[in-house]
Amino acid sequence: MKTRRTFNSFVALGAMTAAVLSAAAPAAHAQNTGKVKVGLMLPATGTFAALGTAIENGFRLHVAERGGKLAGREIEFVRVDDESDPAKATDNVNKLVKRDNVDVLIGTVHSGVAMAMARVAKETGTLLIVPNAGADAVTGPMCAPNIFRSSFSNWQPGYAMGEVMAKKGYKRVVTITWRYAAGDESVKGFKEAFEKGGGTVVKDLGLPFPNVEFQALLTEIAATKPDAVYTFFAGGGAVKFVKDYAAAGLRRSIPLYGAGFLTDGTLLAQGADAEGLFTTLHYADSLNTPRDNAFRLAYAKAYKLQPDVYAVQGYDAAQMLAVGMEAVKGDLTKKAEFAAALQKARIDSPRGPFSLSKSHNPVQDIYLRQVSGKENKVVGIATKGLADPGRGCRM
Ligand code: PHB
Repeated sequence: MKTRRTFNSFVALGAMTAAVLSAAAPAAHAQNTGKVKVGLMLPATGTFAALGTAIENGFRLHVAERGGKLAGREIEFVRVDDESDPAKATDNVNKLVKRDNVDVLIGTVHSGVAMAMARVAKETGTLLIVPNAGADAVTGPMCAPNIFRSSFSNWQPGYAMGEVMAKKGYKRVVTITWRYAAGDESVKGFKEAFEKGGGTVVKDLGLPFPNVEFQALLTEIAATKPDAVYTFFAGGGAVKFVKDYAAAGLRRSIPLYGAGFLTDGTLLAQGADAEGLFTTLHYADSLNTPRDNAFRLAYAKAYKLQPDVYAVQGYDAAQMLAVGMEAVKGDLTKKAEFAAALQKARIDSPRGPFSLSKSHNPVQDIYLRQVSGKENKVVGIATKGLADPGRGCRM
């Protein structure tokens, strides 16, 4: 009996050890050979739905250009519609990390949702590449070795436009935006440069995201009679704002400026109401470089659509993942080497090449663009090689 029991416990122990080993060993093996699970957390519904689609299209285009594999590993996608809803964000990102066990998180558009993603990424060590949301905190106080951004910080286009409008000689400006991280930080960046250049923000108007009842605020702008208006809106909200601004008759009396999201991916819907608008952004439709022309052609072929800034950011998120994965030969557990490779990389983006700041945000040219027909045409470079200050990042 004794022998038997001992034998049985030995078998049980052996089985347990084997189970533990086999749990560890194939996992270690799969770390650089099996499929890579990419969790796409993007909006598929709501005011930012089209932005999510463009990001996913761009990401998939680059993966397809590499034959469906990065560093020899096949890419498998798991998707979640985050609805641009910060209240559901933590649950959504936990589904990807804990239920689906993704190797990489790609997301998202909305700054509030992205901050929840960054929190979970930081806690769990999951690799995160943000392909839009500009939340300054993501590459500021929340920065981490495993968190990267392929897009911009909210501060960047705002700051560039502050310099442009101060140089144009405007003195009294009203700002108007959605009251949440992206709108607030875009206006803050604008104000920092505009006031440095001698201007004053005389009124700071806002409404909750994603409301589009602009009428009362437009009346207030008309009554305030500023020299000009600076705004941050995007997606469906940007379409409506530009149309309402024109319908209120304000285009004739008070020039409208914005972060480039105001007119990116929106021009077909805005039509003549957007004609002539000046904005600042890290992309434009008329760069006419061999790199951008090749990208635009490939995108149009694949999707029967013209790309926009969101498509570029999705494409570049995949390029960044590829650079990191190649450096570690597909072994995503080598996080320090992955980060070191990206830190010294020059990403060959359709927007123009960029590198990453110490806090992992693109250091990039911000273009001044003007709407002409269905395009955001480049007028010039508003600010060359603009780096987000990365305030509060300790890494
Ligand atoms: C954001 O929430 O950070 C955001 C959303 C849409 C944009 C840009 C920034 O186009």
